[in-house]
Amino acid sequence: MTIPLVDLKAQYKTIKEEVDEAIQRVIDSSSFIMGEDVRLFEQEFAQYIGAKHAVGVGSGTDALHLALLAVGVGPGDEVITVSHTFIATGGAVTQCGAKPVFVDIDPRTYNIDVTKVERAITSRTKALLPVHLYGQPADMDPLLDLAERHHLQVIEDAAQAHGAEYKGQKTGTFGKAACFSFYPAKNLGAYGDAGMVVTNDDQVAQKVRLWRDHGRESKYVHLAEGFGKRLDTIQAAVLRVKLRRLPAWNAQRRRNALLYTQLLGGTGVVCPCEPEYARSVYHQYVIRVRERERIQARLKEDGISTGVHYPLPLHLQPAYARLGYQPGDLPATEKAAEEVLSLPIYPELTPEQIEFIASRVKAYS
Ligand SMILES: Cc1ncc(COP(=O)(O)O)c(C=O)c1O
Repeated sequence: MTIPLVDLKAQYKTIKEEVDEAIQRVIDSSSFIMGEDVRLFEQEFAQYIGAKHAVGVGSGTDALHLALLAVGVGPGDEVITVSHTFIATGGAVTQCGAKPVFVDIDPRTYNIDVTKVERAITSRTKALLPVHLYGQPADMDPLLDLAERHHLQVIEDAAQAHGAEYKGQKTGTFGKAACFSFYPAKNLGAYGDAGMVVTNDDQVAQKVRLWRDHGRESKYVHLAEGFGKRLDTIQAAVLRVKLRRLPAWNAQRRRNALLYTQLLGGTGVVCPCEPEYARSVYHQYVIRVRERERIQARLKEDGISTGVHYPLPLHLQPAYARLGYQPGDLPATEKAAEEVLSLPIYPELTPEQIEFIASRVKAYS
């Protein structure tokens, strides 16, 4: 049995006809840039999330960059976020000319430790940028409270959390804006790069709309310079087909996670913990193990692919050497980076495959 970490081919088989038809429709229309599917997908995604506006952009990274700019993050500002994330979270802050300030994570949820945020706030802090990592919502209420008291903007990095809920409300509706990635392997993934900024704020939406498309008011009148960060029409067409399946896919991911947790319970393996406030969509199913590299290699021999999200925290990346962090600065983050192991969790996995993976993990742990 060979089990990849993600199986996009298996998913494509289940939606091939509709996807092919949607792509062909865009080609037939030749409306490749800002076509009708972009507008419709924005409408449908906004409705799904429960937000007033959704603005399609070129990637999750573009979404973060434009959302941060739109809430006024600029040179000299600091943005508080986590180090246990993909580099785009920090990179978008730098792209605005601001400085990322990394706070440690809660070792149980892998999300920002809300008890450590206040002491990181300085007179330069402009925004909080929590990440809903692995599809699990960050603890938003304490963050929103801090933001209000210190007059900070909140931008959610919801790149991994399409459809996740915090206290019954979808992630992406808590901050001033939220950013989604449709990178192919995401719960809602395009067939290339794509992203979305979601917001209830008219001005933020207006700015992102303007800046994603060269500041255009009309074809050759530019109110600002802006960027070329548009959502591609073919990607929007594919995403419209897939959005209709997202609730069922997320539900299947949750069932898969439950089965893993039942099978791995009572062993030395630490399974994901879902706090009462959270309804995770399990973008990743992440366990903690000792001797991870040995276990990962043994699983590979059995045909099981796994992942590590993420092995080197941002504060220790060569790219952030200029910020002056040292090993030991963020202990929970650094420990997680040594121990986390992502198991296959995609919706098309069968219970037999999950049982096989769990039995092998148990045998090697
Ligand atoms: C947490 C997080 N933030 C940002 C991004 C950036 O998204 P993209 O790859 O679409 O630019 C990703 C995805 O790769 C991510 O996982």
